[in-house]
Amino acid sequence: MTQRKVLSGVKQKPYFAKADFVLYLSDSLKILSQLPENSIDLIFADPPYNLSNGGFTVHAGKRASVNKGNWDQSRGFKDDYDFHYKWLEACKRVLKPEGSLWVSGTYHSIYQCGHALQALGYHILNDISWFKPTASPNLSCRFFTASHETLIWARKEKKAKHIFNYDLMKNGKWPEDALKKEGLQMRSVWSILPPKKWEKVFGKHPTQKPVDLLKRIILASTNIGDIVLDPFTGSSTTGIAAIAFGRKFVGVDMESKYLDLSRKRIEELEGIISNIVKPSHAQKNIKKLIHKNDRASLKIKQTQLLP
Ligand SMILES: C[S@@+](CC[C@H](N)C(=O)[O-])C[C@H]1O[C@@H](n2cnc3c(N)ncnc32)[C@H](O)[C@@H]1O
Repeated sequence: MTQRKVLSGVKQKPYFAKADFVLYLSDSLKILSQLPENSIDLIFADPPYNLSNGGFTVHAGKRASVNKGNWDQSRGFKDDYDFHYKWLEACKRVLKPEGSLWVSGTYHSIYQCGHALQALGYHILNDISWFKPTASPNLSCRFFTASHETLIWARKEKKAKHIFNYDLMKNGKWPEDALKKEGLQMRSVWSILPPKKWEKVFGKHPTQKPVDLLKRIILASTNIGDIVLDPFTGSSTTGIAAIAFGRKFVGVDMESKYLDLSRKRIEELEGIISNIVKPSHAQKNIKKLIHKNDRASLKIKQTQLLP
């Protein structure tokens, strides 16, 4: 199947589309149901954590609400589980047999996702502990300070052969990660800082992921030209990493304000790639992201995703 055909069954118009970067304003189940089966190489999903129920945390030294938005409220154990089961089921249908899927979450959601993944017959490859060296302190002082998120990496089927760029993970340069030792195998605990200032120049999403995290995921489990889908795209950190490294991207979110933020981020990146804009301080940081080996990927002629 050519890339152009992948989105030809989607009835609604994209909210935004530019070359290989396409965004839909929709419930992700709706878009997933219109994509052909076995058409997507990689899915990264950062679904609602279901933790926005009135608690408190610390932000910049001050007490702050943990509430991220209505989309993050828990609807009770059973409804939350059903939601995770349904989107994971829809993702399985569209993944290529050799494709793989990443889910990120905290203890509020990740065990339900893990259960649903296994119930649906995915084959779990790793669970990654993303250590956050600058996590906020715990206010109650009655349990440990939460300082990591878990990412589950699974392939669609037990028998299929997934993509893993082992050599790049082992021998690539990962200066952002204090735990990664040069020339040694990459382990399942990753130390990565939250999004930096330059990643939030257009505003920020309440649960925005660092580009360094998505860069690693994209480079580990896709090849140049692959199609990456994020059903809960938010500010499209996944899309930024995908396009920066010569992949194609489809993102879905129910909130237009997050897609507007995504749009500004990708326009900045596209400008840098095609040298239309003179890099500002923030943009120079994006340039640094694209390390030598991967620059070649950007020269590859990009095919249109849309028909
Ligand atoms: C945890 S955030 C993702 C943040 C993203 N990884 C980033 O780096 O910005 C989850 C996103 O899913 C969206 N969302 C929640 N339920 C959805 C649904 N059923 N379909 C599409 N988007 C949904 C929310 O609006 C929110 O932006």
